[in-house]
Amino acid sequence: MTAVLPRPRAAEHAERVATPRRYLMCRPEHFAVEYAINPWMDVTSGTDRDLAVRQWETLRQTYLALGHEVELIDAEPGLPDMVFAANGGLVVEGQALGARFTHAERRAEGPAYLRRLGTLDLKAVTEPVHVNEGEGDFLVVGDLVLAGTGFRTDPGAHTEVQELFGIPVISLQLVDPRFYHLDTALAVLGDSDVAYYPEAFSPGSRAVLQRLFPDAILASEADAVVLGLNAVSDGRNVVLPAAATDLAEQLRARGWNPVGVDLSELLKAGGSVKCCTLEIRS
Ligand code: ARG
Repeated sequence: MTAVLPRPRAAEHAERVATPRRYLMCRPEHFAVEYAINPWMDVTSGTDRDLAVRQWETLRQTYLALGHEVELIDAEPGLPDMVFAANGGLVVEGQALGARFTHAERRAEGPAYLRRLGTLDLKAVTEPVHVNEGEGDFLVVGDLVLAGTGFRTDPGAHTEVQELFGIPVISLQLVDPRFYHLDTALAVLGDSDVAYYPEAFSPGSRAVLQRLFPDAILASEADAVVLGLNAVSDGRNVVLPAAATDLAEQLRARGWNPVGVDLSELLKAGGSVKCCTLEIRS
């Protein structure tokens, strides 16, 4: 059977080329686990904010050393999850869609990120209609947007993104509460390459991923539960949680350059590398 949307074959290893990126990040100055809106969060776990800031700073320095640009947004008191910038919106071709959060605890982050996006010289910044948690559930891969639903982002937002950006949106059903955002279960590596943890998806969505990305890297549960798939690629370098060692090996074997970063404090809130990183695409 022919694939619905044929994807180009994975590039040969030698061709993996990094392109400079622009990211938006938020220093975890008010980070804490004060409520539990995903299974990772335990309000009694105790968090070390200074350590969180140091780990986050290492991530920022990693991006800078790779030649990327990092914009910052001021952390706001009372918004302990604001460090997870990926949830603040979706920016493609200089156009931004703001976020609208599922849980009341994070709702004020939507307007805060929208205001910051409005200062970034983008062509347009649009307020969302439906609930969507930005790049937590929308991942751009080549000329497609993969869109997660099941725990946070409303499927209505998938249609909203397709209409706003004019890019085909593929809806994917998340079924395991540990992987409540798409970016916890699937990593975009290149324009036609992804890695994912199949068990995080419904059978139909798994079949869709298999059709679109027959050569994808399949992550083990051990790598998925350290949020190894919560990774950021520039087309060659893949920044990922350091604990995902098998995944790093799989990446290396396919010609990517894995760069491990330890974000153990932020993992207590259910987030890691990608969650801290919103890509501003021009
Ligand atoms: N505590 C946050 C929440 O549950 C973590 C967000 C992680 N962000 C992400 N892009 N997966 O909303």
